[in-house]
Amino acid sequence: MTMRPLRPRRSVLYVPATNAKALAKIATLSCDAVVIDLEDAVAPSQKVEAREAACRFIAARGAGMKETVLRINALSTEWGRDDLRAAREASPDAVLLPKVDGPRDVLDADRLLDRGDTECWLWAMIETPRAMLNLGAIAELGRDNAARLACLVAGTNDLVKDTGVLATPDRRYLVPWLMQMVLAARAGGLDVLDGVSNDFRNLDAFAAECREGANMGFDGKTLIHPAQIDPANAAFSPGEDAVFEAEAIRAAFALPENRDAGVISLGGKMVERLHLEQAERLLAKAEAK
Ligand code: COA
Ligand code: MG
Repeated sequence: MTMRPLRPRRSVLYVPATNAKALAKIATLSCDAVVIDLEDAVAPSQKVEAREAACRFIAARGAGMKETVLRINALSTEWGRDDLRAAREASPDAVLLPKVDGPRDVLDADRLLDRGDTECWLWAMIETPRAMLNLGAIAELGRDNAARLACLVAGTNDLVKDTGVLATPDRRYLVPWLMQMVLAARAGGLDVLDGVSNDFRNLDAFAAECREGANMGFDGKTLIHPAQIDPANAAFSPGEDAVFEAEAIRAAFALPENRDAGVISLGGKMVERLHLEQAERLLAKAEAK
């Protein structure tokens, strides 16, 4: 595989593959990416027609289309393998694997997807208790240049269902697990996306949840409704102040007298080379959007 490119993933919208109207709307939306869903948003009786509609949409998308991901059914279900085969043909930018329990699930999909030159990445839902316990081993695949894993996605609805924790508006019982996902993603050099908010009419609460996700270190948020796109884009874009500060750090280290300095004083604060790295990353992110 080639190097993982830096892509903005502030707002990643799920679109049920069975909703033709919603699919038709995608081109007009300002989200960074879409996940066409064959899994939980599709009833068992509609799995086959959903697969066909999704692949038609994906194969027909034009160049310059936003990042387009296909969420397949788990390989352990009766639909999973056919979904993956269809994905190989349609060639989405990535396949999102649901209900991943451990690294083996990712490696199995990797092997089945194999087509030598394909640029199709893998994303993994972290939404089962076993995935939480195997998080380090899953994320470690990000260090393997041969594996296609690029992104972890928090599946908070399934985590609530499978663990019995109470889903509260402030997500207090989920936050420790979400933080583990961020830590694991960084260890593996992966992107990581926060879970969905089901309460899609309450946009004030949603904006606060986006800011919380950004503060926790997530790269972006998964969304279920177009109204959630703007708040997510705002919360996960580097703020003006942060960009200004990063530019000041870059400029300071570029001065001839600081070229070989490990640590400098800037505006009354200690700034080290690690802050320069952090600043460069933030500026790259700001430019990528
Ligand atoms: N992607 C693209 N367009 C969407 C959309 C989505 N996820 N959700 C809604 N829209 C569109 C609707 O088609 C509608 O279009 P129109 O104005 O042309 O009629 C418009 O946005 C407004 O929709 P609204 O009436 O407010 O919502 P709804 O009641 O039709 O749908 C949901 C509500 C929650 C059922 C729907 O948003 C949805 O299916 N979300 C995704 C669910 C999903 O994928 N879950 C699995 C992952 S958690
Ligand atoms: Mg799920």
